[in-house]
Amino acid sequence: MQPNPYTPGQVPRVLVGRSVELGRIRDRVSRVATFGELGGPLLVFHAPRGLGKTSLLRTAQRDAAAVGFVSAWVACSRERPFLPELVRAVERALTRAEVIPPGDAGLRWRARLERISLELGVPGAKVRADLGRRGQTAHDSAADPTAGAAPIAALEDLLHDAAVAIRDRGGAGLLVFLDELHAASADDLATLLNGLQNLDGEREENPLAVVTAGLPVTPEALTRAATFGERSSFVPLDLLSDADARTALAAPAESLGVAWTDEALDRVVGEAHGHPYVLQLVGSATWEAARPSEGDVIDLAAVTAGVPAAEEQLSAMYRARWGAATDGERAFLTAMAAADTDNVTRAQIAHRLGVDTRSISVPRERLIEKGVIEPVGHGLVRFTLPGFGSYVRGRT
Ligand SMILES: Nc1ncnc2c1ncn2[C@@H]1O[C@H](COP(=O)(O)OP(=O)(O)OP(=O)(O)O)[C@@H](O)[C@H]1O
Ligand SMILES: [Mg+2]
Repeated sequence: MQPNPYTPGQVPRVLVGRSVELGRIRDRVSRVATFGELGGPLLVFHAPRGLGKTSLLRTAQRDAAAVGFVSAWVACSRERPFLPELVRAVERALTRAEVIPPGDAGLRWRARLERISLELGVPGAKVRADLGRRGQTAHDSAADPTAGAAPIAALEDLLHDAAVAIRDRGGAGLLVFLDELHAASADDLATLLNGLQNLDGEREENPLAVVTAGLPVTPEALTRAATFGERSSFVPLDLLSDADARTALAAPAESLGVAWTDEALDRVVGEAHGHPYVLQLVGSATWEAARPSEGDVIDLAAVTAGVPAAEEQLSAMYRARWGAATDGERAFLTAMAAADTDNVTRAQIAHRLGVDTRSISVPRERLIEKGVIEPVGHGLVRFTLPGFGSYVRGRT
């Protein structure tokens, strides 16, 4: 049997259907490489879980390394501030690129980074109200206008010094990747946005770019952290088209000399509804069922044999999402699932619950934040994981 080429939960071997998004990153990267200047405002990819945000950023990171960029990567989390982690990530990247020499020669760099890290991590020394966060009064804003200056300056120093040092040593510049950006605190986001804005004031001296990804609430979180956060470049990631979904299945197999029948491909593409994680999952389960060698063909029987294992994994995910929902959110999900269509209107849900549409906005927002459902325009929402609706119907 050939080794399984599918990658549920990992960066895919073949990243399909994302050439436009990769192009957006490449534009920024070439600006840094060619002009040695800041690669534009914050670039923010947003999408529900499993649509390929991390995979996109990892692919871009690899491509940029090939043209001489040094990159630092941080996955934000609610548990800890990401800025001190960014210092560590930059330090690791500079060490790996030998910009920071090993041993005593690197001592000055390391001492400097340590100081920056302290300034970024000091509790209470964070950015506050003067940054125009919504919902605050003029009085609050006047409270302590200099509160955030130190961490912002520290972040600027970090990015500027690192980028210039990389460039001086013949590198193209610094790339910062921030994944799971929705999980960052408002204070940290405000520091990031203000720091980048200041660096843009001297953009010719800052050969770097920051590329980020997060759940669909990320644009809102950024705009709330600082009003000018809305000038970041927001790019949604969509489901894959049927043609791209077929390529995501066929291409990794083809490179091992294994083909799929059209029927088998149609079946998996139909199951996955363009959802990249589900495609990888069903692809992988099918491969395990078929155990193909070079020259073999994966047919419908293999898909049918593989699907139960994939379904088991998906059920575990449905259960986790249901388990994390409050009673109010479960009522919302139940009403939504009862509609039994892909996209459901606010009115349909409210009607089922016997309430007016305004009173469902809290569970709706919370479920969007958690990435369980997503808005699709005109007040419509859909489940972000295929099959979740029928799971909910099965429970109730
Ligand atoms: N363009 C793509 N082509 C093929 N497979 C993909 C693509 N994008 C993502 N995948 C696959 O989909 C799955 C989810 O990808 P990834 O982890 O990048 O998503 P994510 O949006 O970062 O999810 P999360 O929000 O949970 O972190 C992985 O198994 C990956 O292999
Ligand atoms: Mg991810």
